[in-house]
Amino acid sequence: MGMPSSPRVGIVGATGAVGRELLDILASRGFPLRSLRLLASARSAGSKLPFGGDAIAVEETTARRLEGLDLVFFSAGAGVSRQFAPVAVRAGAIVIDNSSAFRMADGVPLVVPEVNGDRLEGADRPGIIANPNCSTIIALVAVTPLHRCAGVERMVVSTYQAVSGAGAAYMAELQQQARDFAAGRPYTTAVSGRQLLFNVFSHNSAVGATGANEEETKLLSETRRIWDDGAVQVSATCVRVPVLRAHAESITLTFRTPLDEETARHVLEEAPGVRVVDDRARNRFPEPIDASGRDEVLVGRIRVDHGQPPGRGLMLFACGDQLRKGAALNAVQIAEQLLASRVIA
Ligand code: A2P
Repeated sequence: MGMPSSPRVGIVGATGAVGRELLDILASRGFPLRSLRLLASARSAGSKLPFGGDAIAVEETTARRLEGLDLVFFSAGAGVSRQFAPVAVRAGAIVIDNSSAFRMADGVPLVVPEVNGDRLEGADRPGIIANPNCSTIIALVAVTPLHRCAGVERMVVSTYQAVSGAGAAYMAELQQQARDFAAGRPYTTAVSGRQLLFNVFSHNSAVGATGANEEETKLLSETRRIWDDGAVQVSATCVRVPVLRAHAESITLTFRTPLDEETARHVLEEAPGVRVVDDRARNRFPEPIDASGRDEVLVGRIRVDHGQPPGRGLMLFACGDQLRKGAALNAVQIAEQLLASRVIA
């Protein structure tokens, strides 16, 4: 059985940064939903969120409230997904999970529609579909078209990540710190425990035994899984910058077979989900403020890496809205593909 063409939809984590973006994207794209249930923690129960001219009440997430749904987006962290996503699936829903809980799990497709949307075309109806990590999505939308041409052997990525990836409370704290600065007050650090404004710091995820933080590890493991290529090498350094909602990534590629700059630029100009911003004369390249609120990943600074053998190395700079393509939009695109290919007659 597939998904109805007008599904009953739930959002777990509806009050969060990604949850609110999901609401906006579902409304603006005219997603054909029959009903919408908004779920969050008990703290938010009773509050209301706007959706397409209506105000919908938020309810506490419980097993009972996950019944009677065809499609549930989860964006409330890995712990909530581990607890409730299997409950939603047992109750009959397809889950699109934005957390890291199931990304490496057997039988769970890890999908960026432009990259490996064919993973959704299998014979079996999936229970859970995982949305990749935001940095991985943005990098792979930019790099996969080139990978298809010349085979990426190694990718060195340095991220400049917005605070939105740490949640709505971090975004609010960055804004509060800007007000604190303007008023000459000490910085408010209740959420992050640190100065975000005018600062750059190593990504706020745990550092493992290898010295890599979780974000850096995800870039390697998720790229291998999405490309179905266990040999590709990914060397990442992930940091946060005082930007509200779009990530930037410096990416250096080593190819298996030669690829010249002009071919790469042409391929990227034709690539789905990519917009080339590469104006050397005016020194205009991708910037987070230009990527914010947009669906496309901006790609520029496309140039030969002269530190590698001729034809083998290219460098580029990409920016993508972490809340949209890095999270909510990718999830909605997965849902749209499910609708297009799995409609009940
Ligand atoms: P709430 O607003 O009630 O705390 P963000 O990523 O922006 O921090 O958002 C996290 C989202 O996850 C919010 O919607 C938050 O709801 C939700 N959430 C946090 N803890 C739980 C929980 N135990 N059960 C359900 N939703 C939760």
